Amino acid sequence: MNHPAIRKGAVAVITGAAVGIGYAIARRVASEGMNVVLFDRDATALDEAVKKLLNESPAVKLLAIEGDVTSENDLHELYENACEFGEVSLLVNNAAITKGAGPWEGISKWRTLMEINFWSVLKLQQLFVETMFSQGGAAAIVNLGSKEGITTRPGNAAYSLSKAAIKVLTEQLAHELREKAGDRISAHLLIPGYTFTPMNFPGITRDSQKPDSPWTADQVADRLVAQMEAGDFYIFCEDNETSWELDQRRMQWAADDMIQNRPALSRWHKDYANKFAHYIADIAEK
Ligand SMILES: NC(=O)c1ccc[n+]([C@@H]2O[C@H](COP(=O)([O-])OP(=O)(O)OC[C@H]3O[C@@H](n4cnc5c(N)ncnc54)[C@H](O)[C@@H]3O)[C@@H](O)[C@H]2O)c1
Repeated sequence: MNHPAIRKGAVAVITGAAVGIGYAIARRVASEGMNVVLFDRDATALDEAVKKLLNESPAVKLLAIEGDVTSENDLHELYENACEFGEVSLLVNNAAITKGAGPWEGISKWRTLMEINFWSVLKLQQLFVETMFSQGGAAAIVNLGSKEGITTRPGNAAYSLSKAAIKVLTEQLAHELREKAGDRISAHLLIPGYTFTPMNFPGITRDSQKPDSPWTADQVADRLVAQMEAGDFYIFCEDNETSWELDQRRMQWAADDMIQNRPALSRWHKDYANKFAHYIADIAEK
């Protein structure tokens, strides 16, 4: 049995649904009989996505909305159209960009990334939560996190910050929902590993050959549905080069930076390179 929010005839709203993980989730929940609202700023890719989904399952009910998550108007239109389309039981805040900025780089780059990766998520959450309360049925909100928002590796501070913010926002949301609605409305943090999508492989098409290391977006979507059913909040995905055990060790190391008063991000500090290598050696050897 699926998580009760994933049910036949109810509506799933997915941002950034034209390609990649968003598209795979759309396809996966459509295969469960959900009606899907696909929202994306890329009209051509959105068109293609709809054709492909309809080709696979002609009976599926889709609503494609072209829009930008940074536009309040577009978000309101999405909200209103989705509610007219049916009972919204699943919101997946998936749209994001990685093109970020370093700690003292231009504020406008930070603003653009945070508008897409963080503020839009908060705004959509705020629009849909009250509706989910008043509808009365089971519902769920899935926000897209990242390991870069947990172990926050250096190199793209703005992206890491946005995903760390999404982690905290979703944890707080899960708690408040649990207090107010018991288990009727749940929140989940989906944390993909390295995934074969245009974000990591610009220019790929649906027919491109996948290299060995990444997971497919379909694997991520399958993991989401399975772990929602299991009642998980943190939905981690490994990939073909990073095991769950290695992820666990990296998270423990990051927490130990604080507990042991080590330098920030010591995993990438030259004085700690050998210690970290030793810390994961038994896993690396497997
Ligand atoms: N791919 C990975 O390895 C990976 C790993 C961890 C987390 N994630 C997260 O998963 C989610 C999906 O990633 P993906 O790899 O499928 O991304 P992608 O870049 O392949 O696809 C993102 C989709 O979002 C749309 N989009 C981007 N900005 C938008 C905007 N302003 N308004 C409307 N639509 C917009 C794009 O047009 C595109 O269709 C993101 O939140 C990403 O941070 C991805």
